[in-house]
Amino acid sequence: MNVAMRRAGIIGLGVHVPPRVLTNDELARMVDTSDEWITTRTGIKRRHLAGPDEATSDLALIAARRAMEDAEVSAADLDLIIVGTATPDMYFPATACLVQDRIGATQAGAFDLLAACSSFVYGLISAGQLITSGAINRALVIGAETLSRLIDWEDRRTCVLIGDGAGAAVLGPVDDGTGIYSGGVGADGSAGDVLKVVAGGSRMPMTFEALERKLHRAYMDGQAVFKLAVRTIPDLIKKTVAQAGWTLDDIDRIVPHQANLRIIESMVAQLNLPMEKFVVNIQEYGNTSAASVPLALYEAVHSGQIRNGDRIVLAAFGGGFTYAACAMVWGKN
Ligand code: ACO
Repeated sequence: MNVAMRRAGIIGLGVHVPPRVLTNDELARMVDTSDEWITTRTGIKRRHLAGPDEATSDLALIAARRAMEDAEVSAADLDLIIVGTATPDMYFPATACLVQDRIGATQAGAFDLLAACSSFVYGLISAGQLITSGAINRALVIGAETLSRLIDWEDRRTCVLIGDGAGAAVLGPVDDGTGIYSGGVGADGSAGDVLKVVAGGSRMPMTFEALERKLHRAYMDGQAVFKLAVRTIPDLIKKTVAQAGWTLDDIDRIVPHQANLRIIESMVAQLNLPMEKFVVNIQEYGNTSAASVPLALYEAVHSGQIRNGDRIVLAAFGGGFTYAACAMVWGKN
């Protein structure tokens, strides 16, 4: 294979969600909300939450081991580990380093990537390019989150939306017409205020006052996030598909970030595609941020919605404001 021309693809997938399930009805006993409101406004029915002893790296580790088993690669085969997360175990060491140590990938570089809910797709595109260039051969890209730790559980506007989980992909060179054909990332830092956690960083280190004002919790302007997503993602999908040399009609399946069913429905209308082409599993998991795209991809592959040879697009958006999309031919069933 010509190293300069080779294509990168997903050669293994694995996921993990914590066992604890929180239903809408249980939430309605915690805050002033209802199953009816959450279902009609978001499509979410239940979500999985990490237990007190489960950190992001614990979820990431299980997903990583499953992806490696699926890819039939050992820790020694990995050159790079990227963990996309907005909820690392701690400031540093990076969660990717914790995973690297626990799987024993002693030859692998490791770093965290923070593009909020877009992190997994950002990581996939970045690692794919390193493989395509010949700089590395195998990468483990993980999207893992414990957003439940960041959320104010008394704020009904945000706590009903989120869930915890992890998804992992092993990437390697592929030479059979499958793999990543195009990918693009973008950001609009001027919209950073719509989704943020202000306290705990260098701008506002944690203080008792910050804790009291709950500034260490996630703040979200839901309607602004909604508008940014529907304004950005359909065009991004069109651009990514065109860069691959395809048309929208060529696409078999789109795997969008699972933030709100109504956002996905708006994309369906704008792209003028049938709803069946969009993978939706938000009802089971809520918004798991960086884990959402790999969780949806895994389920679509294992339920037969995505088959070998299918042309698919992964698309995500999140705090930052960030966005990313990737077009590929699926080849790992
Ligand atoms: N239960 C019942 N009522 C609620 C709830 C709730 N959980 N949350 C808000 N409401 C109320 C509001 O107070 C408001 O009442 P009012 O009219 O008396 O003021 C009413 O419902 C309507 O509120 P809106 O904010 O207008 O509702 P909207 O239809 O925009 O839906 C939502 C809100 C679901 C947040 C939507 O805007 C959305 O999904 N945005 C995108 C969110 C997203 O993608 N976030 C990404 C990351 S999530 C994270 O990381 C925290």
